[in-house]
Amino acid sequence: MCGIVAYIGPREAYPILIKGLHRLEYRGYDSAGICLLNDDIRVFKCKGKVSDLEAFVEGKNISGNIGMAHTRWATHGEPNTINAHPHFSQNRTIALIHNGIIENYAVLRSELKNRGYQFTSDTDTEVLVHLIEDIMISEQVAVEEAVRVALNQVIGAYAIVILAKEFPDKIIAARKGSPMVIGIGKGEFFVASDATPLIEYTNNVVYLNDEEIAIIERGKELKIKTIKNQSHSPYIQKLSMSLNEIEKGGFEHFMLKEIYEQPRSIFDSMRGRLHIDQGIVTLGGIRDYEQKILNAKRIIIVACGTSWHAGLVGEYLIEDLARIPVEVEYSSEFRYRNPILNEDDVVIAISQSGETADTLAAIDLAKTKGATVLGICNVVGSSIARATHAGVYTHAGPEIGVASTKAFTAQVAVLTLLGLLLAQKKGTLPNSEFHKLLLELDSIPAKVEQILLLNEKIRDIATIYKDVKNSLYLGRGYNFPVALEGALKLKEISYVHAEGYPAAEMKHGPIALIDEHMPVVFIATRRGIYEKVISNIEEVKARKGKIIAIVTEGDESVKNLADHCIEIPDTEEMLIPLLATIPLQLLSYHIAVMRNCNVDQPRNLAKSVTVE
Ligand code: G6P
Repeated sequence: MCGIVAYIGPREAYPILIKGLHRLEYRGYDSAGICLLNDDIRVFKCKGKVSDLEAFVEGKNISGNIGMAHTRWATHGEPNTINAHPHFSQNRTIALIHNGIIENYAVLRSELKNRGYQFTSDTDTEVLVHLIEDIMISEQVAVEEAVRVALNQVIGAYAIVILAKEFPDKIIAARKGSPMVIGIGKGEFFVASDATPLIEYTNNVVYLNDEEIAIIERGKELKIKTIKNQSHSPYIQKLSMSLNEIEKGGFEHFMLKEIYEQPRSIFDSMRGRLHIDQGIVTLGGIRDYEQKILNAKRIIIVACGTSWHAGLVGEYLIEDLARIPVEVEYSSEFRYRNPILNEDDVVIAISQSGETADTLAAIDLAKTKGATVLGICNVVGSSIARATHAGVYTHAGPEIGVASTKAFTAQVAVLTLLGLLLAQKKGTLPNSEFHKLLLELDSIPAKVEQILLLNEKIRDIATIYKDVKNSLYLGRGYNFPVALEGALKLKEISYVHAEGYPAAEMKHGPIALIDEHMPVVFIATRRGIYEKVISNIEEVKARKGKIIAIVTEGDESVKNLADHCIEIPDTEEMLIPLLATIPLQLLSYHIAVMRNCNVDQPRNLAKSVTVE
């Protein structure tokens, strides 16, 4: 969702800001804008891509060594040039960019209208900039104090950056609920929604906390205070991310690069945790909470999107391995449905970005009810990683493609480790079984490598089905979440309607859809509920549906029924999701490319959903 970048220092701001916006493009957006400040304060903005903004500013005065820029993902008001950020205050002396939602904007807007303020946009954001100006004028205070007073009147979520004509050496930034990081260079500062625009300039960063305001001044130390006016010393952290991790590295799309990174990312998610020689699993981040989890009456997993699918695999794994009851909830439902929670419950929040607004709210709710809350996050230092009591990073590396791929398999790998760790401590698994699983898990990266060799074959299958309008994905047991994830990948990036179902549920509805035009993707691996799935395949075949099947190497039974078989290496049943997901990612990718879709930035979607 909305991306923010700002700069103050000795260099020209424009190239840094534009490059920063390009780095944030992956978050999803529909318009872009920029503000530069020297003697004058200038705003340029337009609907469309960052490249449209670049074309728009050609020949205009874009000089200045202080500035800010924004990519907008529309919430209030359609995606057009007027609603794009930055927004000016009435006197055009203050400009503001915002990520989040001001929930009480309607009340504030009518109060400001009564005081003579005119609104040019339909956004909630414009309210804030007028309010700040109003406070500056009526209370005769400097911009940072006006921001502080204004933020005390605001309900909702925000990451904001403000530039004021009167203060040409100052950036004010603040956050609540939406991410913001400040990069500290030599005599220069950077502000951004995440670290990707900063890493080529500095490794030293400060993550702003909720209700904190940063006063960033040329030639001075960074100052941080809360909206209640308490000063805090900035906590400077070192980033370990490298530039080539966020570049395409020769691949046509980030998504393809990330699919191909999976042998490495799965390995990294287990590195230093899976100790084959000692026959143990360790998860340092939650060591202090092991006993709490082992004694938990229930584990409740909260997540959204692909992370929710990983949570479903986690449910099967933890119940199977450690015999602890697990429930999986959409964060957005959990937070509003008055769930029963108590101190014996352990809540696990799963999130790639660590910024998903609904998951953050679910965490807050669980904490207020006394539950222990753990996180499984990919982005180091993210809001969810900081809001949870403890957690495990997935270490998949930056994921730029909007459709999650390597983050999913890393989440599943971490959940497998968690299940194994709990099983060992609880003694719920015979030793021989435990060791067999450790060895098998260790072999997964090499097996993923083998599956990636099927790319050409999968592309050929995609050629046949690229024009379909609907599709069905079916699986049972551990392969049910895989079916859901396969269907989600296809609809996200190719806009083909796809539904995932437990294969046995087919008879309760989806079977009515099947005819000769309907491709049905079966995840029909030999382990698990294999024979029953074969019966489902027969049923689809009898109705002339087209069958694409993910099968175990050497399978003969499904081969006789399916139109296309993709063979994956054999593995233990509970590890199949780590393998069976890969061909489905590739299938979606190729179909989307053949349909000329924007694979890395699908329409309407955002990588990091920072509003509910
Ligand atoms: C968005 C992304 C998905 C992601 C979901 C949850 O919808 O496009 O890829 O699965 O948010 O995000 P999280 O960062 O919490 O895993």
